[in-house]
Amino acid sequence: MSDRAGGRRLLVRDLAQLATPAGSEAPLRGDALAAVEVVRDAYVLCEDGRITSFGPMRELHAAFQGTAGELEELDGRGLCAVPGLVDCHTHACFAGDRVDEFELRATGASYEELHAAGGGILATVRATRSAGEANLADAVRRHRRWMRRAGTTTFEAKSGYGLDRETELASLRAIREAGGTATWLGAHAVPPEFGDADAYLDFALAEVLPDAALLAATADVFLEEDAFNVDQARRYLNACHAAGLALRLHGDQFTEQGAIPLAIELGARSVDHLEATGEDGIRMLAASDVVGVLLPASAIFLDRPMPPARALVDAGAAIAIATDFNPGSSFCESLAVVSSLAVTQLRLTPAQALSACTVNAAFVLGVAGDVGRIASGYSADIVLLDATDWRYLAYHLGGDIVATVIERGQVTWSRAAERSQENGPR
Ligand code: NIG
Ligand code: FE
Repeated sequence: MSDRAGGRRLLVRDLAQLATPAGSEAPLRGDALAAVEVVRDAYVLCEDGRITSFGPMRELHAAFQGTAGELEELDGRGLCAVPGLVDCHTHACFAGDRVDEFELRATGASYEELHAAGGGILATVRATRSAGEANLADAVRRHRRWMRRAGTTTFEAKSGYGLDRETELASLRAIREAGGTATWLGAHAVPPEFGDADAYLDFALAEVLPDAALLAATADVFLEEDAFNVDQARRYLNACHAAGLALRLHGDQFTEQGAIPLAIELGARSVDHLEATGEDGIRMLAASDVVGVLLPASAIFLDRPMPPARALVDAGAAIAIATDFNPGSSFCESLAVVSSLAVTQLRLTPAQALSACTVNAAFVLGVAGDVGRIASGYSADIVLLDATDWRYLAYHLGGDIVATVIERGQVTWSRAAERSQENGPR
């Protein structure tokens, strides 16, 4: 990290605003979730890929004392700086698409019906198995580029479209090579060559887990009718925990099957979806250390009810928001769009939405001390918004809001550079 930046300093100056979650005690909840520090006419200074200081321009001179070396300056006039966004829930490792199903759903077919007819997740499993490792790695890199230009500087991605040994391991390698946190979603669906979920889990835990545990940081399971039941999810997660993986669950997406009590029982990092969570689940989650990851793009893409975000937040639960980027239930890689949905559909404030896709998402990935805030010592992952008020991140629905992306103190994408490439000699 610091060797990549090579001792260089980066100064972003004259920013209209700099906005960052104020609290560092992740996961943030209650009042702390809504506490965003806003500095007007601001600078941020980075050195060796780390943020060294930020504040109002009038304090810049003092901040420079004691720093030396090459200096790159970015003009922040008319722009806002926010922390690089953290997407803690994606299924970015897939081949093919489901655009035909997308059209069929518009004419009346339901997501569950398509799944039951051998489409849905299993359609993507077929495409992913036949892609080959090189094409799969290309796909993850392409998806990673889409996320970056939407402002995501840290991302998680799950396997789960292989469901055989070779493709699951290839998926985890491809995610790591693209710079993502890899999650083994070995229990996503029961592949057709297995008669039932228990027989498939026998195979997955014996033949895939030992190697998956060397590549992945986390394990995930789809706890749902027609996927894995609570006993199967417990068995899978216990084995993954014993192999050293942190635990997450897809739970309460369509029906409540006990995902929240199981997540609490096993000390999981998160339980994700929660569209079907009722009052008892809200109370239990709020009293626990498990983060509720809300995926409003998935709910809107499938025209499903939104998760009870306001009730969760009011009860004191720690929440994060994420894209759930995948070809079937959420073909959306933009956390800016998700932030907008978080405000209009989940009724979070822009500040709560920002905390939910920065600090709290970083907590879910186990990196809250390193990314997700603009703070001294944190990784210099910063997004410059093309707006003079940081709340445009959520306000400008589907807008071309990201001007520049900085990762580890280096510009990794800018709209200006992309345009000059487009207009340059071929
Ligand atoms: O989070 N619910 C399970 N898995 C994904 C969808 C996967 C797909 O449709 O391909 C989700 O929505
Ligand atoms: Fe998901």
